[in-house]
Amino acid sequence: MSHPDIHASRLLILDFGGQYTQLIARRVREAGVYCEIHPWDVDDQDIIDFAPAGIILSGGPESAIGDEAPVAPSQVFQANVPVLGICYGMQTMAAQLGGAVEGGHDAEFGYAELAVTGSCSLLDGLDDTDSPNSPALDVWMSHGDRVTALPDGFITVGSSDNAPIAAMWDQARGYFGVQFHPEVTHTRQGHEILSRFITDLCGCEALWTPANIIEDSIAHVQEQVGNDHVLLGLSGGVDSSVVAALLARAIGDQLTCVFVDTGLLRLQEGDQVMETFGRNMGVKVIRVDASERFFRELAGVTDPEDKRKVIGRCFIEVFDEESKKIDGVKWLAQGTIYPDVIESAGAKTGKAKVIKSHHNVGGLPEKMNLKLVEPLRELFKDEVRRLGLELGLPQEMVMRHPFPGPGLGVRILGEVKAEYAEILRLADHILISELHAHNLYDEVSQAFAVFLPVKSVGVVGDFRRYEWVISIRSVNTIDFMTAHWSRLPYDFLEIVSRRIINEVDGVSRVTYDISSKPPATIEWE
Ligand code: XMP
Repeated sequence: MSHPDIHASRLLILDFGGQYTQLIARRVREAGVYCEIHPWDVDDQDIIDFAPAGIILSGGPESAIGDEAPVAPSQVFQANVPVLGICYGMQTMAAQLGGAVEGGHDAEFGYAELAVTGSCSLLDGLDDTDSPNSPALDVWMSHGDRVTALPDGFITVGSSDNAPIAAMWDQARGYFGVQFHPEVTHTRQGHEILSRFITDLCGCEALWTPANIIEDSIAHVQEQVGNDHVLLGLSGGVDSSVVAALLARAIGDQLTCVFVDTGLLRLQEGDQVMETFGRNMGVKVIRVDASERFFRELAGVTDPEDKRKVIGRCFIEVFDEESKKIDGVKWLAQGTIYPDVIESAGAKTGKAKVIKSHHNVGGLPEKMNLKLVEPLRELFKDEVRRLGLELGLPQEMVMRHPFPGPGLGVRILGEVKAEYAEILRLADHILISELHAHNLYDEVSQAFAVFLPVKSVGVVGDFRRYEWVISIRSVNTIDFMTAHWSRLPYDFLEIVSRRIINEVDGVSRVTYDISSKPPATIEWE
């Protein structure tokens, strides 16, 4: 069966360490075009090999002034393809091509108005005001330095209060620099500007669609594994669920899933997994109830990292024992996604900003002598979700908030006990059900309950109760690296609190966590 080469039309994004780099890549993918993020100091040869139709230089925290400034490899400006410089990317483009960048002016952070001052195919006809004579755009800025002299061949096409050269354009070479961030939604025309760059300037075709990605992945997996058998650890999370649905389509009964019930899962999670995959999709799923073993191993362990290690080790042991019972398995499927790939590449080059001690089935492939199949390696989370829906997985499963690998183990502070997990599961279920009932679930990025092993006094009827505390955590975030606590309505919190205290035995107090990240993390650990 022939299908379009979905990687044929591709863009390269060079990362200068900006907080929005992944967002740029997601916007490009949303426009239906494959792209990869590489570090700013990628080798010239890698750029040649990648053969991009265009290059985007991201923002970054450094100053483009001085000898130490990160610069784009020379191949960027020799590749004969359009280049878009965003924020720092624009500044380094200006500096490298013979213009000038200066600091010491007033910085601009947040909303700014960009007066469109010249004609250029990326901005022509765009206007957020109703004044045809002097069009202006609402844009999002975040800069201290600014471009003060244009390189040869460029004209100024946009200015803001603190950046007289806020957009620059070299028509002959197809180079475009913007001081603002088109990738964030606050820049109202950002989507249009990026799509004009991608489609009109770089000439990319929109081949990167869920249906095409599925077709391509299926063909790739079939070619990779042939007639071999594949094992998958199903967790109930979005990524492994989408891998299961994809592999079920690609290789049918060559796939066996193992679902380990650690006792640290959400309410009815195991039943839902069995229902969706076992009954509805006809996937072979082996369910292992290992909860007693997990609680036994966790007895007396209070240190957060130690708890993670115990859960991780125990999971691998159970998974390993189960999979030995299955004959002829040669491959292990994993739900690794693109941000994991970028993060671990960053970790190797020392550029990663955040490295979590993730719990997954790491170490297993070598131990079991299995080869890895990772069909989601090129995908962002939102793409994985779209794929899941396209593959027919239920909306509630695909759109679920993230859930950490060690599960409730990181949401029960101190020692993990079965009794605590039971209380937490019920409290969490009440919170999540009420979020759905009030149409708030999709308004927040992640919400959950946390079990605090402290006793607090309460009076119920005529009795004093000395019982546990539950904290509610809910955050809004773009990338989970920084997060704000969600401004949930008081009336909603009141309902949740009342239900938890009334319905969950052993809880006498509910608090709401109003810490942002940083410094607080999303999980309490
Ligand atoms: P923190 O607590 O570091 O969490 O602010 C950031 C995001 O990562 C999730 N998280 C994990 N996800 N395995 C995962 O797959 C883990 O071990 C893990 N620990 C934290 C957390 O739920 C939040 O979304």
